[in-house]
Amino acid sequence: MTAKTFYIETFGCQMNAHDSEKVIGTLVSRGYSQVETPEAAGLVLYNTCSIRDKAEQKVFNRLQQFKRDAGKGKVFGVLGCVAQQEGEKIFERAPHVSLVAGSASYTKLPQMLVQLEAGERRVTGLSLDTDETFETPFTRRDNPHRAYITIIEGCDKSCAYCVVPFTRGPERSRTGESVIAEARRLADAGYTEIQLLGQNVNSYRDPSAAGWDFATLLARVGEVPGIRRVRFTTSHPRDFVKAIVDAIDSNPVLCDHVHLPVQSGSNRVLNAMDRLYTLDEYMRRIEWLKNARRNIAITTDIIVGFPGETEADFNATLALLDEVQYDSLFSFKYSPRPNTAALAMSDQIPEEEKTRRVMMVQERQRAIQIRRNSEAIGAVQEVLVEGRNQAMGQWIGRTSQNRTLNFVHENGNGTDFRGQYLHVRVTRAGPNSLVGESVM
Ligand code: 5AD
Ligand code: SF4
Repeated sequence: MTAKTFYIETFGCQMNAHDSEKVIGTLVSRGYSQVETPEAAGLVLYNTCSIRDKAEQKVFNRLQQFKRDAGKGKVFGVLGCVAQQEGEKIFERAPHVSLVAGSASYTKLPQMLVQLEAGERRVTGLSLDTDETFETPFTRRDNPHRAYITIIEGCDKSCAYCVVPFTRGPERSRTGESVIAEARRLADAGYTEIQLLGQNVNSYRDPSAAGWDFATLLARVGEVPGIRRVRFTTSHPRDFVKAIVDAIDSNPVLCDHVHLPVQSGSNRVLNAMDRLYTLDEYMRRIEWLKNARRNIAITTDIIVGFPGETEADFNATLALLDEVQYDSLFSFKYSPRPNTAALAMSDQIPEEEKTRRVMMVQERQRAIQIRRNSEAIGAVQEVLVEGRNQAMGQWIGRTSQNRTLNFVHENGNGTDFRGQYLHVRVTRAGPNSLVGESVM
């Protein structure tokens, strides 16, 4: 490798974004400096996602672009879920790659760097056989106000469509003590919002003698002095217990938002997906959330076109959207993934039909969101100011319910409000955001 410089591009979920923050910290602690372009870097890293085929293809497109730069002192590495999934096959497909490592091996990153620096050109970290979670004192956080904390890595479920158990390995939880210690350090460093992360965050179980469950940990993080907001993602409905709603109800620091992916509104499809809950069981959790004292926003993920999904199954999903009135959702066309049970299922749905269904979901949800968001008009909400839209003369804030609320501030000339908590009256609502004015 020429100079000790690196470039990293991150794809995928918040877990991946946070892994990159830790990888960057590890590299910097070993004397590397980060540069803004792959051209300027000695080490080019892609932290990849393989949740759907489209995400997976992105990394191969990137690698293709820089093929001719290999051997000119530039070293390429593939990290993350595609690395874990494809393993050494990546060396065949992109021979200029020298490092292939999945997230379960990042604790060994320092050793892998030594190998690369010594000129080795086939360095791998692919073992999923680990009890360790990837923690580092060097994490370089991107956002100056909100900090991620991984509390559990991996996933022990086996949803028929999902690569995650294969790419991130079995569940490993951190001790509650180490999570609280990190939250305290973050509060001391000036962070006010914490987002607890896990592929399956609510199946968290403290491995120490204390044995805290997720609701206990959540409540304890909410008590850390200086922390004003705590969020968490992603929850699996099977492990979503009433105690989580009770914790939110008893501490305003815990945000008014739960992301509870349902995937489908049809029991037949849920069963084929191996989601481990029925629609009735899911709806019981929705009832807990709706009956809470707090006004908790509920969001979800939907997959359309799972193998064998009939028109009736799909209509059941649309009916579920009408019934729950989600505040927001992510919808996806089913994408067949390697190693998964659904790959071999017959009755795959044609692409055009998946497109039609996903568009119908989005259209239906758009109308729901316009209605839901307009309910907020007139209300005063507290926002954390995250940015500024110069062209519109607006500040960009986020509410506890995780809505974007763009607002004007009368006396704001020259003041930078980023990082502050302000009260804003909602004056207008669109499908994806709110508009308002600050209240003095
Ligand atoms: N195809 C389409 N969507 C998927 N998801 C996970 N696996 C697939 C797949 N094979 C979606 C699920 C999950 C979200 C993170 O991505 O909805 O909740
Ligand atoms: Fe993508 Fe899933 Fe890996 Fe996150 S865990 S990067 S969503 S494949």
